[in-house]
Amino acid sequence: MRGSALKTRRIRSVACHSLLILLLCCSHVASADTVPGLQNVHARAGMTLNGKWHYIVDPYENGYYDYRHEPLDAKPDPKSGYFLDRKPASASDLVEYDFDAAPTLTVPGDWNSQKEQLFLYEGTIWYRRTFEYVAAADRRVFLHFGAANYQADVYLNGRKLGQHVGGFTPFEFEITGKLRSGSNSLVVKVDDTRHADAVPTVNTDWWNYGGLTRDVTLVDTPASFIRDYQVQLAPGSTDRIAGTVQLDGAKPGTEVRLSIAGAGIDARSRTDDRGIATFNIAARGLKLWSPQQPNLHEVTLSTGTDRITERMGFRTIAVRGHEVLLNGKPTFLRGISLHEENPLRGGRAWSVEDARLLLGWAKELGCNFVRLAHYPHNEFMARVADEMGLMLWEEVPVYWTIQWENPATLANATRQLTDLIQRDHNRASVIVWSVANETPVSEPRTRFLKSLVDTARSLDATRLVSAAMEVHVDPADNNHRIVDDPFGAYTDLLSFNQYIGWYDGLPDKLQHIRWTLGYDKPVMISEFGAGALQGMHGASTARFTEEYQEDLYRQTLAMLQKMPQWRGATPWILVDFRSPRRPLANIQDGWNRKGLIGENGTKKKAFYVLRDFYRGVAERENRGR
Ligand code: GCU
Repeated sequence: MRGSALKTRRIRSVACHSLLILLLCCSHVASADTVPGLQNVHARAGMTLNGKWHYIVDPYENGYYDYRHEPLDAKPDPKSGYFLDRKPASASDLVEYDFDAAPTLTVPGDWNSQKEQLFLYEGTIWYRRTFEYVAAADRRVFLHFGAANYQADVYLNGRKLGQHVGGFTPFEFEITGKLRSGSNSLVVKVDDTRHADAVPTVNTDWWNYGGLTRDVTLVDTPASFIRDYQVQLAPGSTDRIAGTVQLDGAKPGTEVRLSIAGAGIDARSRTDDRGIATFNIAARGLKLWSPQQPNLHEVTLSTGTDRITERMGFRTIAVRGHEVLLNGKPTFLRGISLHEENPLRGGRAWSVEDARLLLGWAKELGCNFVRLAHYPHNEFMARVADEMGLMLWEEVPVYWTIQWENPATLANATRQLTDLIQRDHNRASVIVWSVANETPVSEPRTRFLKSLVDTARSLDATRLVSAAMEVHVDPADNNHRIVDDPFGAYTDLLSFNQYIGWYDGLPDKLQHIRWTLGYDKPVMISEFGAGALQGMHGASTARFTEEYQEDLYRQTLAMLQKMPQWRGATPWILVDFRSPRRPLANIQDGWNRKGLIGENGTKKKAFYVLRDFYRGVAERENRGR
């Protein structure tokens, strides 16, 4: 068979190879623009900047240039840009914008779902809010954004702080010493125009929600503080902790203390000349995390000037042969895919409440696993999954026809993956980093994806790596499906999407299918499904009836159970979601209808087929324990 012969796969436990992480942190420290983001922002002092922001819609980039006589590609005009947030100096002074008189949008939140006239808008919107904040003399202040889709240019009191590209990852700017007494003007230009060289590219099967879609927070830290940390089980161990802590503003040799409540851990280490302290300590009192028992320990990191705490789970995840091992025991990934959308409110999900709604539905379905498709979701999803006992597949939007040979596109994808891993590397729930979805096989594509796998493994050797790969049909036999995507050689899970019975024949075709899998690895079916309008009933051969979707699930599960190395699935998809690619009037109306739950929150018949199957899997697994 092609691919790796059956050999013991590297056991990956939740751990960090200190030296490797150390080197990476150092490389991060070396170049300022890749300094790791602020870890665990919500635990920090500061002030939320969520709320009503005034906005100006700017499809012609009018507010970026002196439109009177500058061509569009001119440098931003220092006199007329909206980022100056100017007021007329006198009644005769011409200023053709006024944020105070402009309407408002709620932040966080996409603009599409807030205003009817912005539902289909793609382009630039200027946001502005004012705020007052007085920081103590020895404190540092940062502006932190959970995400902004797709490009954000940020200005404070008329001066540019910087730009961020990428619609789903956090970013921040230090503003220590840049605040003025009294009112400060914060202006953010958000442009969600799609571009061929972007990540994702111009074509996606999801709604391009634009705006300040996640929390905006002013963060206040000591002059010397704990910027980032990763605390996990040491490689291959369930009773040793390995930790790496990066300080910012600290002298070499600064003492760092790590304590883990309920595990008898209270250790100390000192930073090197890059501000990094490492730990590798016995931890005999840990209660391991699992979906059945999502044990979380309170972890505290402190120095002479700073202290930060959060609740963390500790577990191992590994693949061996055809098995996925959680804490050393084979487990079946009873999963479901979902988009970051709250269909009941409409628009991008962003809050703890949204996370509880979506993940609560997954728990009702009997899941122990959720695929957060197709981009990094907000960080509350992983934190709530830690609490609820759900394992997660997290993904970057390297989706379909990316510009594989464009170095800037690779750098963009690499940065998004790096920022996702750095944000969530303390989340026990996250077990898979996915570097792509359904990308056409070619040499440049496989090189691009391999580079992302290398990045993921170098940043975090503690989790599995995968991507939804391609399947091809045997030209000599339409019922013979072959999975030998060259990229499969680099992943821990052999994951692929298959839509036999929806895009490829009818459900009755499924019983005739045979599979050839090119790698001896656990198979995780990353997508299968069918559209159904909730409440529409009829023959099981009638498209978009609940009966069709129900029959497809039954016949797909029957087919998959004949696959010896099948170890999990994340069917497409938990809930109907908005997509500009789904216009079928009176059925789709701009929604992708493959949800097991309708946009109104009502479950369809196929929901119960999958739930009953997962209940059987769970019962067999519990009997086997
Ligand atoms: C693809 C893709 C999804 C899409 C789905 C569909 O596999 O990964 O993003 O929504 O199929 O066609 O519904």
